[in-house]
Amino acid sequence: MSTQPDAYCVMGHPIGHSRSPWIHARFAALTGERLSYGARLVPLDGFAQAVRDFARAGGRGCNVTVPFKTQAAELADTRSERVARAGAANTLVLHDGRIHAENTDGLGLVADIEQGARVPLAGRDVLLIGAGGAAAGVLGPLLARRPRRVAVCNRTPARAQALAARHLDAAKLSKTELIAIDQQALEADFDVIINATSSSLSGGPVPVPASVLRAGSLAYDMMYGPPAQGFLDWATRHGAHARDGLGMLVEQAAEAFALWRGVRPPSGQVLAELRTLLASP
Ligand code: ATR
Repeated sequence: MSTQPDAYCVMGHPIGHSRSPWIHARFAALTGERLSYGARLVPLDGFAQAVRDFARAGGRGCNVTVPFKTQAAELADTRSERVARAGAANTLVLHDGRIHAENTDGLGLVADIEQGARVPLAGRDVLLIGAGGAAAGVLGPLLARRPRRVAVCNRTPARAQALAARHLDAAKLSKTELIAIDQQALEADFDVIINATSSSLSGGPVPVPASVLRAGSLAYDMMYGPPAQGFLDWATRHGAHARDGLGMLVEQAAEAFALWRGVRPPSGQVLAELRTLLASP
């Protein structure tokens, strides 16, 4: 008698654009893991119910995307320190009627910067632009790599100050200088500049001056596809190495897959395949 494959999914609203089912299907095929992974469009007021229904039907885990990451952190029975600090979760483990929340976004970003772009973060100067959910999800893992300095800047300075304040103990542990800085007061340049804002979605310009870039800086946009293009073009024009967030997407998925299955998938191969897929007409 054949048993059903273990069921996983990604929940979001909207969800049609999600590449996660394709990524996890490739991970499963390449590691020989037997699982199913679907995409679920969840009503805006129905997230908690959707998770409980999925768990009751035997679901083993789910990824969570916009706009449910904060709710995912709140509804969990247990949460990792990363989730507690970020106030957001992108991965849920469903086991014995209990929900455990993890956040793999920051691990994915760090993996893609250090292994994908081959830029070690230790000792570097990093600028994190933005202080919303996306920035909150990555600051802890960035600090854990022991950069020399991390400056957080945001259109609304109070949010940057609050985000930095929540991470001061982690910064102390890493011996990293962590500051919140006004966008207008940005005078220094940086080794790594990370765009965690959604400004491009509203057609806004890059929210920092080009003087933050130095020759050979890594300029990283956490988005990919058309929304990332303006930032990437701006960075390239000013002599920086530009990288979109497609590698982060694959690496955060790889971290979730490893958490669920205990097996690390070949993320580099899957990223190369995904780039080819997206480049084909
Ligand atoms: P997300 O979960 O994607 O981070 P969010 O929590 O709404 O979404 O945060 C969006 C981030 O992009 C914030 O840092 C926001 O700045 P504010 O805190 O000032 O709102 C930033 N952002 C959005 N539109 C922007 C724009 N046009 N210029 C600069 N920053 C912008």
